Amino acid sequence: MEVYLDNSATTKVRREVVEKMVEAMEVEYGNPSSAHRKGYNAEKILSKSREDVAKLLGCESHEVFFTSGGTESNNLAIRGIVHSMKRNGNHLITTKIEHPSVLNVMKQLEEEGFDVTYLDVDNHGYVDLDELKNAINDRTILMSIMAVNNEIGTIEPLDEIAKLKQRKDKFYFHVDGVQAVGRINIDLKNINIDLLSISGHKMHGPKGIGALYVKKGTKIKPILYGGGQEANLRSGTENMPGIVGLGEACRFMKDNFIEYEGKLRALKKRLYDGIKSEIPDSHLNGPDIDDGAPQILNISFLGVRGEVLLHALEEEGIYVSTGSACSSHKNTESHVLKAIGLNHEYIEGAIRFSLSVFNTEEEIDYAIQILKEKVNFLRRYKRR
Ligand SMILES: Cc1ncc(COP(=O)(O)O)c(C=O)c1O
Repeated sequence: MEVYLDNSATTKVRREVVEKMVEAMEVEYGNPSSAHRKGYNAEKILSKSREDVAKLLGCESHEVFFTSGGTESNNLAIRGIVHSMKRNGNHLITTKIEHPSVLNVMKQLEEEGFDVTYLDVDNHGYVDLDELKNAINDRTILMSIMAVNNEIGTIEPLDEIAKLKQRKDKFYFHVDGVQAVGRINIDLKNINIDLLSISGHKMHGPKGIGALYVKKGTKIKPILYGGGQEANLRSGTENMPGIVGLGEACRFMKDNFIEYEGKLRALKKRLYDGIKSEIPDSHLNGPDIDDGAPQILNISFLGVRGEVLLHALEEEGIYVSTGSACSSHKNTESHVLKAIGLNHEYIEGAIRFSLSVFNTEEEIDYAIQILKEKVNFLRRYKRR
């Protein structure tokens, strides 16, 4: 049996998405900028995809800009705002548990002379609203805070964070929504977010495509210059197969959200309950089981090295992760698990399970049984 439990790294592309993408490559392959009918058809498809993304986010379609993925959306949001706002101040706020596509941009900006506050989080991964409030000053131009943490699934209190921004405040609020959109409810109509990043391959769409929501009136500059596509914010011929795929993935998520969220939560609970009852000395990392994102479960198996367990599970067709995929090839300890105050033994034994609606109860039960065998074996082996 093959059980894929690494959906925060990437997801399987939905069949309907593939079909739409093939059509965009084989039939309607025109360039939306071309003046003839083939171009016009592509332009229509581009608009429809933009609408599908906007509907899922609860915004206007002219507020959606296509990019090459979550990394570019985060870079564009942060650098784009910094370029346009640097006369107003040089202070940015973020958290210690952001994805590297935010943290490394911030580090680079520090080298360029900007002042960055990295907020601590508590042992469940939540930012402290008082600390955030105190960090805001009259030089602040941007705060960038993720919606859902990719390693432990903490859902940050975006509503309350957004309310900290007063009408008179001149800074912007960016949210990395890559692990959130389609899995928790984010409706931009009801929350004061200025910029939000999403990525296709985390929601059963293709890799190499994403989007950035930019609220109307936001002052942002491009980071790429060229032919002026995407209303001058993101030049480059549009990645039409990717865009169509992202649009279709968003349409599907919007139509099936409630059913899917329930299914993911039930699978996660089943996996957690199974691990708790079958495997002693296993410890939940991050928020309480009902509070975190429905698709992410992070557990430390004490006395076992996560990396060794990962490969032992792989032998039986079960795919998991020890941390985020981007950092798992580097032999560094997870900055997220460190930030929530875990000691070395807990960090070393941590495994991230991330679910999708393609998973079944049978798969979860199989994973629990194999986990139990492997953890027992590795613990016995270590004691010898
Ligand atoms: C929270 C978060 N932000 C951003 C990204 C980067 O997205 P992409 O792979 O589309 O560049 C990821 C991917 O792991 C992520 O989990």
